[in-house]
Amino acid sequence: MKKYTSINDIDNLTSWIEEAKELKENPLKHCALGTKKTLGLLFFNTSLRTRLSTQKAALNLGMDPIVMNVSGDAWGIEFEDGSIMNGSTAEHIKEAAAVVSQYCDMIAVRAFPSLKDKEQDEAEHVLKAFMKYASVPVISMESATEHPLQGFTDAITISENTKKKRPKVVLSWAPHVNALPHAVANSFVQAMQKMDVEFIITNPKGYNLNSAITKETTIEHDQIVALKNADFVYAKNWSSYEDYGKILNTDTAWMLTKEKLGNAKFMHCLPVRRNLVAEDAVLDSNASLVIEQANNRTYAAQLVLKKILENL
Ligand code: CP
Repeated sequence: MKKYTSINDIDNLTSWIEEAKELKENPLKHCALGTKKTLGLLFFNTSLRTRLSTQKAALNLGMDPIVMNVSGDAWGIEFEDGSIMNGSTAEHIKEAAAVVSQYCDMIAVRAFPSLKDKEQDEAEHVLKAFMKYASVPVISMESATEHPLQGFTDAITISENTKKKRPKVVLSWAPHVNALPHAVANSFVQAMQKMDVEFIITNPKGYNLNSAITKETTIEHDQIVALKNADFVYAKNWSSYEDYGKILNTDTAWMLTKEKLGNAKFMHCLPVRRNLVAEDAVLDSNASLVIEQANNRTYAAQLVLKKILENL
């Protein structure tokens, strides 16, 4: 494998899930595979799980991870081709990506959307620029529109916890005080479309995700109807896609409660705002898989790194 920037880079999700479970059973089995190989992790945005789990995954494979908070610590990077750089940016991505490629055998990048300019966000200008100008494989640690390490993690977690051959999985919009990206929801949708599950999205009107991603997936605007007989409920806020980046609804009735959850397992990518997205009784219950999800981030990343290492 030469890159991992989308759930669509997974050729066979079922076999990837099984391989990730094997890594989880024996994380150090391939501890020499990455010897003398360096993983560069470049963060344009904040992180706890992605930052630490991807480093842990690299360490499990014997790699040396090096990390930089690009925003603030590095020179301001210019992404426009042909721009006259007489503003705040000091270094062009052409040089930056080429230079980092000399220090690293692969580069992982986190770069969120602006949520102001849909066209620019969908162009994925930061991730695509690294893919264009880096001479080593590039991994997305969450881009403007996708969070493929999280989506793969979520697929592993459902596979581990289902008792049914074809469980019902509901992605439920939840309230939030900030305008959040669509990336986690998009990658979860893409992952569920590749799994043998009954999958429904529930969100208020005005919050439908990009139809190019949701495709034929059912969207139910009545949360109570959608949650009926659910086996897994994945709560997530996202800002409006139609009225791009806007908060249209703050209705706390969309918060996940123990009563609404019923017998379902609860999932969230974290960080989660308690008693806004989901009540304490959900997060503190045995039905919550959020800590297990966070643990699985390591093995999702480790499998991606392993597959790239095997092709260097
Ligand atoms: N879920 C997730 O990506 O967490 P971080 O933003 O903390 O990395």
